[in-house]
Amino acid sequence: MAKLDQNLTPLFTVLKDVYAKKNVTPFHVPGHKQGNGMDEEFLEFIGRNPLKIDVTIFKMVDGLHHPTSHIKKAQELAADAYGVNQSFFAVNGTSGAIQAMILSVVKSGEKILVPRNVHKSVSAGIILSGAIPIYMNPEIDNNLGIAHGVKPHTVEKMLEQHPDVKAVLIINPTYYGVATDIKKIADIVHSFDLPLIVDEAHGPHLHFHEDLPISAVDAGADICCQSTHKIIGAMTQMSLLHVNSTRVNPNRIQQILSLLHTTSPSYPLMASLDCARRQIATKGRELISKAIELANFTRSELNKIPGVYSFGEEIVGREGVFAFDPTKLSVSVKEMGITGFELERILIEEYNIQMELSDFYNVLGLITLGDSKESVTKLIDALKDISARFFDTKDVKPIKSVRIPSVPEQVLIPREAFYSDTNVIPFDESEDKICAEMIMAYPPGIPIITPGERISKEIIDYVYELKETKTQLQGMDDSDLNTIKIIEEEDAMYIYTEKMKNKLFGVPLNLGADKSGIEFGIDVLVETYPDTFDEIEIIEVNKQRENFNTPNLKYKNTILHTCEKLAKAVDEAIIDGYRPIIIGGDHSISLGSISGVAKTNKNLGVVWIDAHADMNTDETTLTGNIHGMPLALLQGAGDPDMVDCFFKGRKINPKNVVIIGARDIDVREYDVIKELGVKVIHYDDIIRKGMDNVLEEINDYLDIEDIHISLDIDSINPNCAPGVSTPVKNGLDEDDVYKTFKFLFKNYFITSVDIVEYNPTYDKNNKTAHLVKDFTDYILNPIY
Ligand SMILES: Cc1ncc(COP(=O)(O)O)c(C=O)c1O
Repeated sequence: MAKLDQNLTPLFTVLKDVYAKKNVTPFHVPGHKQGNGMDEEFLEFIGRNPLKIDVTIFKMVDGLHHPTSHIKKAQELAADAYGVNQSFFAVNGTSGAIQAMILSVVKSGEKILVPRNVHKSVSAGIILSGAIPIYMNPEIDNNLGIAHGVKPHTVEKMLEQHPDVKAVLIINPTYYGVATDIKKIADIVHSFDLPLIVDEAHGPHLHFHEDLPISAVDAGADICCQSTHKIIGAMTQMSLLHVNSTRVNPNRIQQILSLLHTTSPSYPLMASLDCARRQIATKGRELISKAIELANFTRSELNKIPGVYSFGEEIVGREGVFAFDPTKLSVSVKEMGITGFELERILIEEYNIQMELSDFYNVLGLITLGDSKESVTKLIDALKDISARFFDTKDVKPIKSVRIPSVPEQVLIPREAFYSDTNVIPFDESEDKICAEMIMAYPPGIPIITPGERISKEIIDYVYELKETKTQLQGMDDSDLNTIKIIEEEDAMYIYTEKMKNKLFGVPLNLGADKSGIEFGIDVLVETYPDTFDEIEIIEVNKQRENFNTPNLKYKNTILHTCEKLAKAVDEAIIDGYRPIIIGGDHSISLGSISGVAKTNKNLGVVWIDAHADMNTDETTLTGNIHGMPLALLQGAGDPDMVDCFFKGRKINPKNVVIIGARDIDVREYDVIKELGVKVIHYDDIIRKGMDNVLEEINDYLDIEDIHISLDIDSINPNCAPGVSTPVKNGLDEDDVYKTFKFLFKNYFITSVDIVEYNPTYDKNNKTAHLVKDFTDYILNPIY
């Protein structure tokens, strides 16, 4: 219940009853000076009154950026009417308000969960903020051919998969009036202690009638934006941004709105919002009741017409449909063999009726506070006539359903794509290129592809289908889409902030393998690929006195000393917020790197990609080479001094370890694997089941958040990676490794990575060096 006097309109009143009434002599902008300097025809048409209150910021009327009087009061009345902590007038529509909302909850490089079918203003907010969008699929209604909201379960699942998400945005209700279970979503999002922000462009009336879906803030959302010009009586461009939470700071929102807003907001428009708020607060229930009644009447009349379907309450309960706003009147005539696009054209060209939007199946009309029996009768009569002309029960031509293409691969985040150099190429040659522009079917403004995503064959086919149905495609420079702007791979600009958080270490240790050549690997990499490896920090190997009575632990003292040093450096890097990437050296160095990570992470998982299992102990080893032992040592099996590397005891729990790609395991090594219970996915398993299935298996098995990846280059087929000391025939290919990386980065938090066993003396034409460089580049900029 409102506490303030909602009959007041402080902004409109000061403009009309003070400024205009006083006949102030204007020496201020706008230059038309209350209409005196305006084009005559326009003046005659629009009349003088709007121009008399078209002023600029001065003390008498207050300012939008630092409101202290009338605008401040008008905003307070809006907050009171909607029952929220604070409301802001947004003068660049809900588009601008959404951008402000996004900028207030995520910073550059932070992740925000958003539905795929966002309005273009959300994409703009994501570019402006530099955030990383993580897309959720909305529910697609194949009967109606439209997208509904996202389900609470989807939000929950995505938050579990992406624990580093900083905020969640949902659209509710949709353009078609379909609402999801937003209360449940708010509870889920808050259980992760994150803010829920809502694009409620189509819901400024919801709060005022019990027969409508619950409004965002009533359901617990932290911020929402509403297009008050769409449903209630404000003039075009006006929107409200409400804040109702302690998770976001309203002063920050005011600051961001000031960053985005013009310094010359339109006072007639703001006054119209002041009055629209009065109207909805004082008479809203009654006016909305009439609109609902009129919409329901229209819907039931339309549904009596052969070949016409206007969906209503009956869809509640379908996937993604929790409630329905009856004032949204969608009309489908697909049973007449007519698309929504064609129906919209017929209605305007032949019946002088302009609908709000059309899509492949439907047209959408809005029944608002401004409709009457007369206006809806015109629509009903028009559709009766269309039915008589086109509906033929003997020859129903159901429209072929159009698939919604799957979300393309995100190569660059939107902001990176925005700043990368672009080229224009023929659209039909764009398969596999990185898209540099957004393609939208508009209305309703759903992006088919956004900048930074890879253009797939499916996208190209879908665009051709839309072109055939004459759908208006927007967002591109070439509106016919004969050409498209793309980003060549070499022009892609990565400003992904995680890049700054990586720290490269190089450990030129060869004693674990007892093979010379490995120690030169890092030098070759730095010399050949300075862009990638220039800043690598070298952990020097200082030879220690060895006890040659322990042939089963060759060079134990030097290896342990080096690993302790590496562990310390890795631990410090982790504390400073870096992701350590360690380039070997032989695989014994992983004892150091993983011990360093495990110092502050007691629940670390390890994915060991290797032709070998490295699970020998000093008792089972056939060679005494320690590079065959680190994974056992890390799990507490083997020589006690080495098990205690950096800190006492085992570093990882065997149930958090998976070995992938093994194809050379010693007989007694198997006993250690069995005893510890480590999961091994042999190379043969990958061949038999396929990499995708194997990765899913890992997902089911590893129930943890943080993973260290240890990549031994000998996991790869020696034909592709000859530069290793202990080659084993067959093995993974490059794509298998990328697939695994992508999968792991997508599903887990990757704390750290080793790439080991590159030996330049066996390499051919730098083949292996190049692979190490490419893998490192990927890890520095993991796009998944
Ligand atoms: C879901 C959605 N969000 C945001 C907007 C942008 O609103 P506005 O036109 O007020 O800027 C629209 C506009 O159609 C929309 O449909």
